[in-house]
Amino acid sequence: MSKELMQMNIQRAQLRIEAEKEEVAKGSMRQRYHFMPQAGWMNDPNGLLYYKGKYHFFFQHNPYSSFWDCMHWGHAISDDMLHWEYLPEALAPSEAYDSHMKGGCFSGSAIEHEGRLYLIYTGATNVGNGMEQTQCIAYSEDGVHFEKYDGNPVIEAPEGVPACFFRDPKVWKHEDLFYMVCGASRGERGQALLYRSKDLLHWEYVNVLAESRGEWGYMWECPDFYSLGDKYVLTFSPMGAGDRKSVYLTGDFDYSTGKFCYQTSGEIDWGHDYYAPQSFLAPDGRRLIVGWANEWEWMSYWKDWGPTYKEGWCGSFNIPREVRLMEDGTLQVRPIEEIRSIREGAYREDALLLEPGKEYDLKAGDGVAYELKMKIDLEHTDASRIELMLRGDGQRRTRCVIDLKKAQISVDRSLADGWSKGASRSPLFLKNKKKLDIHILSDQSSLELFTDDYRNNHSMNVFAGNEQDRMYICAVDGQARIEDIESYGLKRTM
Ligand code: FRU
Repeated sequence: MSKELMQMNIQRAQLRIEAEKEEVAKGSMRQRYHFMPQAGWMNDPNGLLYYKGKYHFFFQHNPYSSFWDCMHWGHAISDDMLHWEYLPEALAPSEAYDSHMKGGCFSGSAIEHEGRLYLIYTGATNVGNGMEQTQCIAYSEDGVHFEKYDGNPVIEAPEGVPACFFRDPKVWKHEDLFYMVCGASRGERGQALLYRSKDLLHWEYVNVLAESRGEWGYMWECPDFYSLGDKYVLTFSPMGAGDRKSVYLTGDFDYSTGKFCYQTSGEIDWGHDYYAPQSFLAPDGRRLIVGWANEWEWMSYWKDWGPTYKEGWCGSFNIPREVRLMEDGTLQVRPIEEIRSIREGAYREDALLLEPGKEYDLKAGDGVAYELKMKIDLEHTDASRIELMLRGDGQRRTRCVIDLKKAQISVDRSLADGWSKGASRSPLFLKNKKKLDIHILSDQSSLELFTDDYRNNHSMNVFAGNEQDRMYICAVDGQARIEDIESYGLKRTM
């Protein structure tokens, strides 16, 4: 019976998506090349993988409204992570362990094993004492239709971990064993727990891979763990850690002891709209990550997730990014190369000398969906700051301030659109640097700014309409020299 119940719930969800998707397709705020749902609410990326010749993205999805509730796993496939074909929902709530309205099939990961595609996810339910979370399995022979494992749940919260804080399993294989890192909270500290298994169905607890000592919040959501060269990277999204929303730790790991010793920590993205990144391997060996272009704490503080609910949807993914480890242990996170394939209308300028206080217009595509790159020649710049205005129309704009005196960059959207709030800030690494690189991706409802050799990034959603297409730059308290200016329009793929 319960197998049928999931199929019935998927069919019901599909009917709803079919009924809504045309309206959503007409929306004026919908993204042009960032992945978003056909209809309804989405949050975390789940189960990202390259499987049988296609990229598969699964995602936390509520097909029934533009707000978070009763989590399903949406599913789509692609050849390039830019053009997408939506498939039927992969998972729908249907069992005692994953069927509560404010619960469902929470985040998790995917892995191929003996010809089957396995999804490892968190079942979230409420048995009257608050939320209970356990780790569960579903599998598929064709990569489209999934069945939940009869022996679910396969892991329950270990001692000391409240059942409401045990979620988001990320699984990988090393030699003959499967490993899982799972998010938890113990004694009010965020933790990443390590498990191992021979068959994906029976799991043994190994140890705490890393934990907060108070600086990284009380709960770690969506942890991920992978190797880059001979080092290891742990990423997670902490709850209760202020501005830190997508932390990474890099260091050494020993499979024989399960011990991870990290030497370096950083932030994958300082913007207010980057959360729960999940990684996977591209067939050419690149380690790619995808984040949810939103997050919980700022948004619940401001009491909104933006105006797109009026158009029947909410949420998109940030542009997929490639991760590389630098010699000093920091991570470089750059947009995927595939983005080049949707460029159009190139524009180039070798150099621009900015006189103090004067505005210089910049061109990029239609001023809405574009890519813009430039370098600030620090040796020929004495301005105390450079301001870059994006998606402007005379009154409204998003203001990026590159403060060379304070060595800080900020992206302020308080005047962006009459809706968005807040400014993100991060330190700039200017020491011994001759040029500062800037790379911007603008889409209908988002801005992503990359600087400091892709080690300092800001993703901010803005709901600026098509009339907000002006972009200009100016230097304050001195001159600035900008060079290698390069821009492109970006074609619609969604
Ligand atoms: C992170 C998160 C996860 C959880 C999912 C629920 O954004 O809170 O911890 O599994 O979203 O949708």
